[in-house]
Amino acid sequence: MKIARFSRVGFILAAAGSAVGLGNIWKFPYITGEYGGGAFVLVYLLTVLLIGFSIMIAEMLIGYLGRKDTVSSFETLAPKHKNIWKFGGFQGLAGLFIMIFYSVVIGWILNYIVTSLTSLPANVKEAEVTFSAMLNSGFFTQLFYHTIAFLVITYTLTKGIKSGIEKINLVLMPALMIILSVMFLYSLSLDAFPKAVHFMFAADWSKLNSEAFVTAVGHAFFTLSLGMGAIMTYAASMDKGANIVKSAFWVVFLDTSIALVAGLMLFTFLYEYGSGPAKGPGLVFISLPAVFYEMGVLGNIFAELFFTALAFAGLTSAVSLVEPMVQYYIDRFSWSRVKASILVSGFFWFFGIFAILSNIDGAKEYLTWGGRNFFDWVDFFTAAIMLPVGGLIMAIFVGFILEKSRVKAVMKPFLKWAFEPWYFSLRYITPIAMFIVMLNLMGVV
Ligand code: PFF
Repeated sequence: MKIARFSRVGFILAAAGSAVGLGNIWKFPYITGEYGGGAFVLVYLLTVLLIGFSIMIAEMLIGYLGRKDTVSSFETLAPKHKNIWKFGGFQGLAGLFIMIFYSVVIGWILNYIVTSLTSLPANVKEAEVTFSAMLNSGFFTQLFYHTIAFLVITYTLTKGIKSGIEKINLVLMPALMIILSVMFLYSLSLDAFPKAVHFMFAADWSKLNSEAFVTAVGHAFFTLSLGMGAIMTYAASMDKGANIVKSAFWVVFLDTSIALVAGLMLFTFLYEYGSGPAKGPGLVFISLPAVFYEMGVLGNIFAELFFTALAFAGLTSAVSLVEPMVQYYIDRFSWSRVKASILVSGFFWFFGIFAILSNIDGAKEYLTWGGRNFFDWVDFFTAAIMLPVGGLIMAIFVGFILEKSRVKAVMKPFLKWAFEPWYFSLRYITPIAMFIVMLNLMGVV
């Protein structure tokens, strides 16, 4: 059987499509608002540069050498103790857990694309009422759109690497970048732009408590799609001669610039037309629609464009969140792609119902423990714990388990003088940084 592989551009766009997602346009701005801007952004950026980039390369390398689903890749590459190391591959489950809430949020966005067509809320109060109505009593609305998201994602996965995953990214990613560029250029022309820059880049260290720190590091992993085998699974279908470092660079570059562009643009809008940086998950669903209303007709167009871009970003990431387990069932159990796509996606669809219920009046009481509901626990557990641990596993695997000669043979031509610093960072900087994160985390949970 001929194995389908990504074209070079296709791989970069697919990996960037995985990285650029709700994390960049929905989550990054709202957690930046929540944790006070500057210092938080700086910790995030430093993590991306010092740790994220190295792990991105490591994850691509494991996939590139392993050429199979994540579990089999770890197994074939671990010379000793393969029965232990293969568990590294089960990080792929994290993607399915993330999908439990991710698909529900894509559903909210699809709902907003439809409702913004006809009406926008006249002020924040009204927007809040609309959002809460959907969240707390709109069970069937949420279920409907969550199901649409599930169908689009499943359909794409059934089509496979070339005609499904590569194709959707080749179309949606450029569209997303064009939409965001147009809106960003407009925000540049507004008086409030410098205020947004100040909010995002002037560091106030007093605001950086341990929760903010853990969230910033966790977010760096989340936004780069690291630590759960999404990038690894895509890299298994990478063209043999492709340059791993260049590809990793482009993915990190696109992901980071799109997050910063989205953040600057949204905060500019909020300063110019609203009441300044809003906090919490409602930022794009509450404050922003009210801002669009203030803009007049342009706001209607922007609302449509913005939510469409957000949906595109979410869908391309969602596909990558599910693909590792789909690939796992294809490679290990010889399931057909169609069967694997439907059954694996069925898992997140089913548990997504509980994510919806965790905000619904009358049900939420039963789905809340220790101050967080089911939805928030899944978010916290995956982003703050599973992904950093997954990243650590990748770093240790490439740094200590794979033979150095083998790593060097592949990576030296790409990295040249940077090979040793990269290797050092995987062996020492990443584990130490992760250890600090874990210590902080104990203070948070
Ligand atoms: N990077 C995606 C985002 O920023 O929304 C989310 C994500 C996708 C996380 C794939 C992890 C992953 F493996």
